[in-house]
Amino acid sequence: MLPREEDMLIAERLASPHRVVGREVVCLTQVDSTNEECRRRAAGERQNGLAVCADGQTRGRGRRGRDFQSLPGRGLYLSVLLRPNAPLSEVSAITAWTAVAVCRGLERAAGVRADIKWPNDILLEGKKLCGILTELGVGENGTLDYVIIGIGVNVRQSEAEFGPELAPIATSLAQHGVTLGRGALAQALLEELDALYRDFPRESAAYLAEYRRRCVTLGREVTVLRGSAATRATALDIDGGFGLVIGLPDGTRQTVTSGEVSVRGLLGYG
Ligand code: BTN
Repeated sequence: MLPREEDMLIAERLASPHRVVGREVVCLTQVDSTNEECRRRAAGERQNGLAVCADGQTRGRGRRGRDFQSLPGRGLYLSVLLRPNAPLSEVSAITAWTAVAVCRGLERAAGVRADIKWPNDILLEGKKLCGILTELGVGENGTLDYVIIGIGVNVRQSEAEFGPELAPIATSLAQHGVTLGRGALAQALLEELDALYRDFPRESAAYLAEYRRRCVTLGREVTVLRGSAATRATALDIDGGFGLVIGLPDGTRQTVTSGEVSVRGLLGYG
């Protein structure tokens, strides 16, 4: 059993004046969505680096309009608000950079080897450990106002708590014998996100190389869903903009920048 303190999310302990990301931290017992709370606060105070975390979310959001299971006290639900000094066209890469930063934080704090399933699912031994949802705020003149990066890590869920739909494809740190508290994990993630913020977009080559190294999609058979069309292909490479380069059966190549990609042998796709 964890000492309760290590697991607690305490704003004064997580905040640091030496970082941009997490200079100010808000910890809530329950919220609809930490991304939504960041957005509400962006409108008011316009802070750069504000971090919001919660014990549980009542309307945790996932990508593509899905819900994200957010049981109280079981996961780490963390969002940060950033105002990177980069044009809108470059900011789409920040989600991929975040995947790398989260893997680094998980490895450092939890001692686990984390992989990336393109574009931004974090896997532990082939099952989903963490999801990332990035949302942009665009000003009236069409320029970037802010980016909200939301990270949900499964920390203590049991198989039964995931339920029959998620249990075959999701995992938690506890299921791998890791008893790391959410406070310690949040601390490591804020540090890595701060490093990311300082590096972005200058250090692109280093993040790209690490992304490629960690990406378990590469070399596998994939099915790409775009609307109602399903394309079978082989995942060949990640291009400079973090798009997925696929090889089609007729020998041609395409780059996929969005859409659903199932990877044979991962997350329940046989
Ligand atoms: C996905 O895998 O589809 C993305 C899941 C992102 C979940 C996190 S939890 C913290 C933040 N708040 C939300 O409502 N969503 C993100």
